[in-house]
Amino acid sequence: LEDSSQSHGAFFLKNKKKKLWGSIAIFSFYPGKNLGSITDGGAAITNSKNIFDKLKSLRNYGSKIKYYHDEIGFNSRLNSTSAIFLRQKLKKLNFENALRSRQEKKYINKLKDIKQLSFLRRNTKVVSSHHLFLIFLKERNKLKEFLDKNQIETIIHYPVAPVNQKYYKKIIKSKKKYPIASKFEKEALSLPLGKHLSNKQQDLIISTIRKFFIKL
Ligand SMILES: Cc1ncc(COP(=O)(O)O)c(C=O)c1O
Repeated sequence: LEDSSQSHGAFFLKNKKKKLWGSIAIFSFYPGKNLGSITDGGAAITNSKNIFDKLKSLRNYGSKIKYYHDEIGFNSRLNSTSAIFLRQKLKKLNFENALRSRQEKKYINKLKDIKQLSFLRRNTKVVSSHHLFLIFLKERNKLKEFLDKNQIETIIHYPVAPVNQKYYKKIIKSKKKYPIASKFEKEALSLPLGKHLSNKQQDLIISTIRKFFIKL
Protein backbone atom coordinates (compact mmCIF):
# COMPACT_ATOMS: atom_id res chain seq x y z
CA LEU A 1 0.00 0.00 0.00
CA GLU A 2 1.73 3.17 -1.18
CA ASP A 3 1.20 6.70 0.04
CA SER A 4 1.35 8.57 -3.29
CA SER A 5 -0.38 11.65 -1.87
CA GLN A 6 2.39 13.91 -3.16
CA SER A 7 3.44 12.09 -6.30
CA HIS A 8 0.96 12.88 -9.07
CA GLY A 9 2.78 12.65 -12.39
CA ALA A 10 5.95 11.04 -10.99
CA PHE A 11 7.19 8.10 -13.04
CA PHE A 12 9.81 5.37 -13.26
CA LEU A 13 12.45 6.16 -15.89
CA LYS A 14 12.78 2.52 -16.94
CA ASN A 15 9.06 1.95 -17.44
CA LYS A 16 6.92 5.07 -17.63
CA LYS A 17 3.72 3.03 -17.78
CA LYS A 18 4.41 1.41 -14.41
CA LYS A 19 2.56 3.60 -11.93
CA LEU A 20 2.97 1.76 -8.66
CA TRP A 21 5.43 -0.38 -6.71
CA GLY A 22 2.92 -2.47 -4.82
CA SER A 23 -0.77 -3.37 -4.97
CA ILE A 24 -2.49 -0.06 -4.24
CA ALA A 25 -1.32 3.56 -4.52
CA ILE A 26 -3.35 6.30 -2.86
CA PHE A 27 -3.38 9.85 -4.23
CA SER A 28 -4.59 12.93 -2.38
CA PHE A 29 -6.46 15.70 -4.20
CA TYR A 30 -6.22 18.06 -1.23
CA PRO A 31 -6.19 21.56 -2.80
CA GLY A 32 -2.47 22.15 -2.09
CA LYS A 33 -1.30 19.08 -4.00
CA ASN A 34 0.17 19.12 -7.55
CA LEU A 35 -3.16 17.76 -8.72
CA GLY A 36 -5.24 19.54 -6.11
CA SER A 37 -8.98 19.88 -6.33
CA ILE A 38 -11.46 22.51 -5.19
CA THR A 39 -12.51 20.21 -2.37
CA ASP A 40 -10.88 17.40 -0.41
CA GLY A 41 -10.73 14.14 -2.29
CA GLY A 42 -8.50 11.32 -3.35
CA ALA A 43 -8.13 8.25 -5.54
CA ALA A 44 -6.70 4.77 -5.32
CA ILE A 45 -5.12 2.93 -8.24
CA THR A 46 -4.51 -0.80 -8.38
CA ASN A 47 -3.54 -3.54 -10.82
CA SER A 48 -5.75 -6.08 -9.11
CA LYS A 49 -9.34 -6.65 -10.25
CA ASN A 50 -10.24 -8.04 -6.79
CA ILE A 51 -8.93 -4.95 -4.99
CA PHE A 52 -10.62 -2.69 -7.56
CA ASP A 53 -14.02 -4.34 -6.94
CA LYS A 54 -13.53 -4.22 -3.18
CA LEU A 55 -12.60 -0.51 -3.19
CA LYS A 56 -15.57 0.36 -5.44
CA SER A 57 -17.87 -1.32 -2.97
CA LEU A 58 -16.22 0.19 0.13
CA ARG A 59 -16.48 3.75 -1.21
CA ASN A 60 -20.19 3.26 -1.84
CA TYR A 61 -21.61 2.07 1.51
CA GLY A 62 -20.43 -1.48 0.86
CA SER A 63 -22.79 -1.80 -2.10
CA LYS A 64 -22.05 -3.42 -5.46
CA ILE A 65 -25.67 -3.38 -6.61
CA LYS A 66 -27.61 -0.20 -5.86
CA TYR A 67 -29.44 -0.39 -2.51
CA TYR A 68 -28.04 -3.86 -1.71
CA HIS A 69 -25.30 -3.93 0.93
CA ASP A 70 -23.09 -6.97 1.33
CA GLU A 71 -20.56 -5.36 3.69
CA ILE A 72 -19.96 -2.25 5.80
CA GLY A 73 -18.59 0.61 3.70
CA PHE A 74 -18.30 4.40 3.61
CA ASN A 75 -19.60 7.36 1.66
CA SER A 76 -16.26 8.13 0.03
CA ARG A 77 -17.07 8.99 -3.57
CA LEU A 78 -15.38 11.90 -5.32
CA ASN A 79 -18.02 14.47 -6.22
CA SER A 80 -18.61 15.15 -9.93
CA THR A 81 -17.74 18.86 -9.74
CA SER A 82 -14.30 18.02 -8.37
CA ALA A 83 -13.87 15.29 -10.98
CA ILE A 84 -14.59 17.76 -13.84
CA PHE A 85 -12.15 20.25 -12.32
CA LEU A 86 -9.43 17.59 -11.89
CA ARG A 87 -9.83 16.27 -15.46
CA GLN A 88 -9.04 19.76 -16.74
CA LYS A 89 -6.09 20.20 -14.38
CA LEU A 90 -4.71 16.78 -15.28
CA LYS A 91 -3.98 18.04 -18.81
CA LYS A 92 -1.50 20.55 -17.37
CA LEU A 93 0.06 18.30 -14.76
CA ASN A 94 3.19 17.27 -16.71
CA PHE A 95 3.86 20.84 -17.80
CA GLU A 96 3.51 22.14 -14.24
CA ASN A 97 5.67 19.37 -12.79
CA ALA A 98 8.39 20.23 -15.34
CA LEU A 99 8.17 23.87 -14.23
CA ARG A 100 8.59 22.79 -10.60
CA SER A 101 11.63 20.75 -11.63
CA ARG A 102 13.21 23.79 -13.32
CA GLN A 103 12.50 25.94 -10.27
CA GLU A 104 14.11 23.30 -8.05
CA LYS A 105 17.23 23.20 -10.25
CA LYS A 106 17.47 26.98 -10.10
CA TYR A 107 17.21 27.05 -6.30
CA ILE A 108 19.96 24.42 -6.02
CA ASN A 109 22.24 26.09 -8.57
CA LYS A 110 21.96 29.48 -6.92
CA LEU A 111 22.22 28.26 -3.33
CA LYS A 112 24.54 25.25 -3.45
CA ASP A 113 27.64 27.26 -2.52
CA ILE A 114 26.16 28.09 0.91
CA LYS A 115 27.81 25.45 3.09
CA GLN A 116 25.26 25.66 5.91
CA LEU A 117 22.52 24.46 3.49
CA SER A 118 21.78 20.96 2.27
CA PHE A 119 19.15 19.51 -0.06
CA LEU A 120 17.40 16.20 -0.58
CA ARG A 121 19.12 13.75 -2.91
CA ARG A 122 16.75 12.68 -5.68
CA ASN A 123 16.34 9.02 -6.62
CA THR A 124 17.89 8.76 -10.10
CA LYS A 125 15.58 5.89 -11.13
CA VAL A 126 12.42 8.00 -10.93
CA VAL A 127 11.24 11.42 -12.06
CA SER A 128 9.77 13.19 -9.06
CA SER A 129 6.57 15.25 -9.05
CA HIS A 130 8.58 17.91 -7.16
CA HIS A 131 5.69 18.51 -4.81
CA LEU A 132 7.89 20.32 -2.29
CA PHE A 133 11.33 21.89 -2.35
CA LEU A 134 13.04 21.46 1.00
CA ILE A 135 16.23 22.96 2.29
CA PHE A 136 17.92 21.81 5.50
CA LEU A 137 19.86 24.01 7.89
CA LYS A 138 20.62 24.26 11.61
CA GLU A 139 19.43 27.89 11.73
CA ARG A 140 16.07 26.92 10.15
CA ASN A 141 13.85 28.86 12.59
CA LYS A 142 15.94 32.02 12.27
CA LEU A 143 15.84 31.85 8.48
CA LYS A 144 12.07 31.30 8.53
CA GLU A 145 11.65 34.36 10.76
CA PHE A 146 13.89 36.42 8.46
CA LEU A 147 11.92 35.35 5.38
CA ASP A 148 8.61 36.07 7.15
CA LYS A 149 9.84 39.59 7.92
CA ASN A 150 10.61 39.98 4.21
CA GLN A 151 7.09 38.80 3.35
CA ILE A 152 8.24 35.46 1.98
CA GLU A 153 6.05 32.65 3.22
CA THR A 154 7.68 29.28 3.91
CA ILE A 155 6.30 26.16 5.59
CA ILE A 156 7.79 23.56 7.92
CA HIS A 157 6.96 20.10 6.57
CA TYR A 158 6.40 18.90 9.25
CA PRO A 159 7.03 20.38 12.73
CA VAL A 160 6.09 17.11 14.45
CA ALA A 161 6.87 13.77 12.79
CA PRO A 162 4.13 11.12 13.09
CA VAL A 163 6.23 9.11 15.53
CA ASN A 164 6.44 12.14 17.84
CA GLN A 165 2.75 13.07 17.70
CA LYS A 166 1.01 12.98 21.09
CA TYR A 167 -1.20 10.05 20.13
CA TYR A 168 1.64 7.84 18.91
CA LYS A 169 3.83 8.84 21.87
CA LYS A 170 1.16 7.26 24.06
CA ILE A 171 0.99 3.98 22.17
CA ILE A 172 4.61 3.52 21.02
CA LYS A 173 6.52 2.09 23.95
CA SER A 174 9.86 1.59 22.17
CA LYS A 175 12.68 4.03 22.92
CA LYS A 176 13.94 3.72 19.36
CA LYS A 177 15.26 6.98 17.90
CA TYR A 178 14.20 8.27 14.50
CA PRO A 179 17.11 10.54 13.47
CA ILE A 180 15.83 11.25 9.94
CA ALA A 181 12.37 12.25 11.20
CA SER A 182 14.04 14.42 13.89
CA LYS A 183 16.24 16.12 11.30
CA PHE A 184 13.14 17.02 9.26
CA GLU A 185 11.43 18.42 12.36
CA LYS A 186 14.35 20.63 13.31
CA GLU A 187 16.05 21.53 10.04
CA ALA A 188 13.65 21.27 7.07
CA LEU A 189 12.09 24.29 5.43
CA SER A 190 9.89 24.27 2.30
CA LEU A 191 10.47 27.13 -0.10
CA PRO A 192 7.76 28.40 -2.47
CA LEU A 193 7.47 26.25 -5.61
CA GLY A 194 4.90 25.99 -8.38
CA LYS A 195 3.17 27.92 -11.12
CA HIS A 196 2.20 30.77 -8.78
CA LEU A 197 5.92 31.55 -8.35
CA SER A 198 7.28 33.95 -11.00
CA ASN A 199 10.93 34.10 -12.04
CA LYS A 200 11.25 37.49 -10.40
CA GLN A 201 9.77 36.26 -7.14
CA GLN A 202 12.12 33.28 -7.10
CA ASP A 203 15.11 35.58 -7.68
CA LEU A 204 13.98 37.66 -4.72
CA ILE A 205 13.65 34.58 -2.48
CA ILE A 206 17.16 33.45 -3.47
CA SER A 207 18.71 36.87 -2.88
CA THR A 208 16.92 37.22 0.48
CA ILE A 209 18.25 33.82 1.61
CA ARG A 210 21.76 34.86 0.54
CA LYS A 211 21.33 38.11 2.51
CA PHE A 212 20.45 36.08 5.62
CA PHE A 213 23.73 34.14 5.40
CA ILE A 214 25.79 37.27 4.89
CA LYS A 215 24.28 38.74 8.08
CA LEU A 216 24.70 35.49 10.05
C1 LIG B 1 2.40 12.22 2.25
C2 LIG B 1 0.94 12.48 2.58
N1 LIG B 1 0.18 11.45 3.00
C3 LIG B 1 -1.13 11.64 3.27
C4 LIG B 1 -1.73 12.87 3.15
C5 LIG B 1 -3.18 13.01 3.51
O1 LIG B 1 -3.96 13.29 2.37
P1 LIG B 1 -5.49 13.71 2.54
O2 LIG B 1 -5.48 14.98 3.33
O3 LIG B 1 -6.03 13.91 1.15
O4 LIG B 1 -6.15 12.58 3.28
C6 LIG B 1 -0.98 13.96 2.73
C7 LIG B 1 -1.60 15.29 2.61
O5 LIG B 1 -1.18 16.26 3.14
C8 LIG B 1 0.41 13.76 2.43
O6 LIG B 1 1.16 14.76 2.00
